[in-house]
Amino acid sequence: MSHDEVPQLLARTVVVTGGALGIGGGISRRFASDGDHVVLVDIDEAAANATAAEIEADGGRCSVLVGDITADDTVAALVALVESEHGHADVLVNNVGDFRPAKSFFAKSPPEQWRRLHELNLWHVFAVTHALLPAMIAAGGGSIINVSTVEAFRGIPGSAVYSAYNAGVSAFTKSLAVELGPSRVRVNAIAPDLADTPQTPAELMLAGRDPALLRSWLPAGRFGQPEDFSGVVAFLASKDAAFITGHTIPVDGGTLAASGWYGKAAGRGWTNMPDHA
Ligand SMILES: NC(=O)c1ccc[n+]([C@@H]2O[C@H](COP(=O)([O-])OP(=O)(O)OC[C@H]3O[C@@H](n4cnc5c(N)ncnc54)[C@H](O)[C@@H]3O)[C@@H](O)[C@H]2O)c1
Repeated sequence: MSHDEVPQLLARTVVVTGGALGIGGGISRRFASDGDHVVLVDIDEAAANATAAEIEADGGRCSVLVGDITADDTVAALVALVESEHGHADVLVNNVGDFRPAKSFFAKSPPEQWRRLHELNLWHVFAVTHALLPAMIAAGGGSIINVSTVEAFRGIPGSAVYSAYNAGVSAFTKSLAVELGPSRVRVNAIAPDLADTPQTPAELMLAGRDPALLRSWLPAGRFGQPEDFSGVVAFLASKDAAFITGHTIPVDGGTLAASGWYGKAAGRGWTNMPDHA
C-alpha cells in the first residue's frame, strides 16, 4: 500500500535504531512506504540524511536523530524528539548490533572489547526500550522488535561474547513479552544470517569465490537483502501478528535448519564434512 492510500490516523510512529544502512535502512524504508512516520536514529549523519531524503522523495515521512545509541544523551534526545513530535512510539525496532569489535579468540580478548560488545549488542536494547516504554504503555500498547542473530542459537568461534549478548537479546525478548502482555505491548525479535550489508558485504564474504557456490553454503542459495528482513519486521509489527509475542524468528535462508549440513560444491547431494566436495 502506498503512503497516499493510508489514512493519516493509521500512521504509526516507528523508531528504528541504526536505521540508515543495511537491515535497519531496509526497515526504515519499509515502514515509511507503509505510511508510518519513521524516527531514524543513526551514528552516521551522512547516511542517515541520505536515507531520510530517499524516504521523503518517495512521499514518506522521516525524522532523523544523529548519535551513538549506546550514549545516554542520544537516548535522552530520542525520548525528547519522540515526545515532542509524536507523544509516544507505536513501534520500536532495536536494530543496532555489531560483531566486529570481537576479532580475537576469547582467551586473547581484552575486557574492553567485551564492554563495547555489551554496549553495542545488549545495553542499548535495554536503555532505549526502558526509555520509550512508559509512553508506549500509557498510549495503550505497541510493538517492540529486537534484532538478534542466528549466533544466539549456535556456536560461533571467535565471537563467543557477541553470541552471548545476542542470546541475551532473545532471552530479554521472551521475558519482557510475558511481563508486557497485559499492557498490550508485544515483544519479538528476528535472528538474521548472511545479510548483504555494509557490516557483512557479499563481496567480502565471497572473497573472490564463485557466487554459484552459495547453493552449497545455505539452503536458500543466496545472500539476504535488507527487504528479506524488513518484511518480517513489518509483519511482526502488524495486526497479522497480533497473537505472536516473545519469539525470535530466524530469517536466515535456512542456515539454522541445515545446522552444519552443506550442499556439495559440485551440486550433487549434501555433506556435513565440507572438505568432501
Ligand atoms: N549482516 C548480517 O548478516 C547479520 C547477521 C546476524 C545479525 N545481524 C544483526 O542485524 C543488525 C543490523 O546489521 P547490519 O548488517 O544491517 O549492520 P550494518 O553495520 O550494515 O548497519 C548498521 C547501521 O547502524 C548504524 N549504527 C552502527 N552503530 C551505531 C550506534 N552505536 N548508534 C547508532 N547507529 C549505529 C550504522 O551507521 C548503520 O546505519 C545488527 O544488530 C546485527 O548484529 C546482522
